[in-house]
Amino acid sequence: MKHVRGFLFVIGTVLAGVSLVASGWLMSPTRYALAQDSDWQSKKIVPYVPTDQEVVEKMLELAEVKKGDVVYDLGSGDGRIVVTAAKKYGVKAFGFEIDPQRIKESHENIKKAGVGKLVEIRQQDILTVDVSPASVVTMYLLPDVNLKLRPTLLKQLKPGSRVVSHDFDMGDWKPEKTIQVGDSATLYLWRIPASK
Ligand SMILES: C[S@@+](CC[C@H](N)C(=O)[O-])C[C@H]1O[C@@H](n2cnc3c(N)ncnc32)[C@H](O)[C@@H]1O
Repeated sequence: MKHVRGFLFVIGTVLAGVSLVASGWLMSPTRYALAQDSDWQSKKIVPYVPTDQEVVEKMLELAEVKKGDVVYDLGSGDGRIVVTAAKKYGVKAFGFEIDPQRIKESHENIKKAGVGKLVEIRQQDILTVDVSPASVVTMYLLPDVNLKLRPTLLKQLKPGSRVVSHDFDMGDWKPEKTIQVGDSATLYLWRIPASK
């Protein structure tokens, strides 16, 4: 009987240990990161290609960013557009990005530029963003993604808000202005009309 109790005690201790380790792993940051990873990868619809700094400056100039504006960059990469908007124009700027590595880089760039009070990065699918608080929206995406976003931009943005896209247009929504920067970048500007 003594042996049986001893045996049960050992088995009980081993089982408790295994379940503790298992629940620890389930709750661990590694496990959480893995869950997050599979989630964001399925939502990533545009590859990361950063905009040259010279082009970033031109995008913000084309949008006529001024004090009081709120800038949204949809698919914000390493945060260069929102960081530049805050640093150069002193405006609030929000970046929406799905890739955790890019978000990490954005936070480093925000810190380096000292614009932490003006810039916020949100990990969010751009197809679900409510753009109504923005007065300027910047994008460097893809033609089909621009077309998916177009109804939301037209519906949610206030009249007079500006949309600037690097390289890709919006189908039959005619831009107010198109400019060429250097040899390779084309920038498009749209303004939300008073009557939609
Ligand atoms: C071409 S890069 C542009 C980066 C930045 N705006 C720039 O001009 O330097 C597009 C970015 O969109 C991000 N992205 C792709 N799909 C996304 C989604 N569904 N939601 C949020 N971000 C997304 C990518 O991770 C990438 O960083």
